[in-house]
Amino acid sequence: MSAPAVKSLTPEIAPRRAPTKLARLHPLPLRIMHWINAAAIFIMIGSGWRIYNDDVLFGWLHFPDFLVIGKWAQYGLQWHFFGMWIFVLNGIAYLSYGIATGRFRRKLFPIRLREFVATVGDALRFHLTHDDLTVYNAVQRVLYLGVILVGILIVITGLCLWKPVQFSELAGLFGSFQTIRLIHFLCMSAIVAFILIHVTLALLVPQSLVAMITGGPTVNGRPPAVAEPVRVAAPAPVVEPAPPAESAEPAGPMPDSTKER
Ligand code: HEM
Repeated sequence: MSAPAVKSLTPEIAPRRAPTKLARLHPLPLRIMHWINAAAIFIMIGSGWRIYNDDVLFGWLHFPDFLVIGKWAQYGLQWHFFGMWIFVLNGIAYLSYGIATGRFRRKLFPIRLREFVATVGDALRFHLTHDDLTVYNAVQRVLYLGVILVGILIVITGLCLWKPVQFSELAGLFGSFQTIRLIHFLCMSAIVAFILIHVTLALLVPQSLVAMITGGPTVNGRPPAVAEPVRVAAPAPVVEPAPPAESAEPAGPMPDSTKER
């Protein structure tokens, strides 16, 4: 009967130990998706400006050749579709990851107006600090959430421009073809504004940039969702093999494996 006893311990211990590897401020999947997204956005904006130059919305605005991607509009279009697939697939992965792991809920919420106003005030007086990398301030939360929503809108309007017949009902929500072009353009402008602020802040707080490359400090809280049970459970097998009640913390993928027991 000793074999079943060992068997019953194994599945419980294994899933508890594994997640400690994920206990970084920015887990590896998030970093990969972030940098893929940055590259895709770069391609999309440069090629989008090339396409725009061929049929401008504003007579006074032409993007200089050294800023655009693609020699002619047709090449620009090909680059745009190439970037679009990366951006959309990576974006779906990022959204799924952020929702499924609870990262969005933990890092981007709640957003309090008072805190937002105070943080903007601090920033304008150059008093803003980012000592604790593990917590996004209210302005960061608004910016990140905003750029995610704008990212979704730019994809939807892009679909309407690309396939106006197939997505005619969706397109109808926005108005005429030119209106959709304008919204698409405004989304691009918002993303460019975001990038300018975002990259400036990242350079002003270089440790945040390093963290987005290396993963940053190890965090004890929720990000690895099951970090606490790991520490609680580690010494248990030595004296009392696996009391069933203590792993009941319902967070992330753990409960399924524990419930099975
Ligand atoms: C080369 C360009 C970029 C650099 C250097 C950069 C840098 C960073 C850094 C350092 C952080 C962590 C911030 C912190 O811990 O305080 C971050 C997070 C983030 N960045 Fe970027 N970024 C770039 C491009 C972009 C682009 C193009 C987007 C989207 C359009 C973007 C969206 C985000 C979002 C949403 C987060 C929060 C991620 C999360 O915690 O879930 N970044 N970025």
